[in-house]
Amino acid sequence: MGVRFKGWGIAVPDRIVTNEELSRTLDTTDEWITERTGIRERRIGGSAMTLGTLAGQRAMDDAGVKAEDIDFLVLATTTPDRICPATAPMIANELGLNCPAMDVNAACSGFMYAVRTAYGLLETGNKRILVIGAEHLSRWVDWTDRNMAVLLADGAGATVLEFDPDGTDLLSFCLGADGSAADLLTCEHGGYFQMNGREVFRRAVRVVVDSAEKAMASAGITSADLGIVIPHQANIRIIQAATQRLGIEMDRAVVVLDRYGNTSSASIPLAFDDARNNGRIKVGEYALLTGFGAGMTWASAIVRWS
Ligand code: UT7
Repeated sequence: MGVRFKGWGIAVPDRIVTNEELSRTLDTTDEWITERTGIRERRIGGSAMTLGTLAGQRAMDDAGVKAEDIDFLVLATTTPDRICPATAPMIANELGLNCPAMDVNAACSGFMYAVRTAYGLLETGNKRILVIGAEHLSRWVDWTDRNMAVLLADGAGATVLEFDPDGTDLLSFCLGADGSAADLLTCEHGGYFQMNGREVFRRAVRVVVDSAEKAMASAGITSADLGIVIPHQANIRIIQAATQRLGIEMDRAVVVLDRYGNTSSASIPLAFDDARNNGRIKVGEYALLTGFGAGMTWASAIVRWS
């Protein structure tokens, strides 16, 4: 048995904020941001609910399914509209779903944690699950803090996962969490995101490489078999360092952070959408989807597109 990806959708705010615009109010430059992160512009606006609803509807349309076809909604978000209630039931209401709905918070690994959760739910009797990653990170950014303001942004992406008794797109997972590193990237109640960037960078490369190697081993493939890598979009230098250590040419990795910045739980579906629009998703090819983030958490999966 297994699961199939049936459809995908994204939503990003209309408002584009360039590096140049940020450099007018912050002690930073387009050159620094581009060189150190790869980010050139980002989208700001909306909320986890509004962006998540739009991405979810688009994924359902893409999959050709209706509200009554969805058995469960799993929303990955670090930035729910409210602490309580969860944002997923509100999105379910907007979409006309009549099913359980819950939030998963695993920061930038959130989308892959939600996919893993959905996989388990499909194994135990559900037929079709809507998985959404939606973030409103800009709400929790101190716009006078150049360390975070240049990195974080808003957006959403979604996919419909469907049970298939005869085969699977999802071949393996490797997920993990290390709460001893919790203080490296935080947002306290009523506060703003803060990060020890250098240490997060160092650990990010390590956990991506380690989890990717384990996921590939459990799928019975090597990095030479991968057609494409869809990584979490935090920093181009993290993607370069991780792919290099895995022995994967950089041109096999999808990069959208230049246009979207770091959108946490939304970044992997945003990257998937870009890859598909550019004809880079090929039936039968293996893909590595990999994320890491606050927690720290990490999650890699091997997919074979059907
Ligand atoms: O989504 C998952 C979590 N996030 C990440 O994975 C991000 C991981 N970390 C990173 O991407 C990088 O560490 C950063 C982009 C955050 C920082 O890049 P870095 O190359 O590690 O720079 P740094 O922190 O070592 O700082 C270098 C210098 C510092 O100045 P001094 O101390 O050398 O004088 C910073 O104060 O750059 C300074 N700096 C800036 N300068 C201009 C920091 N932010 C900026 C800025 N503009 N926006």
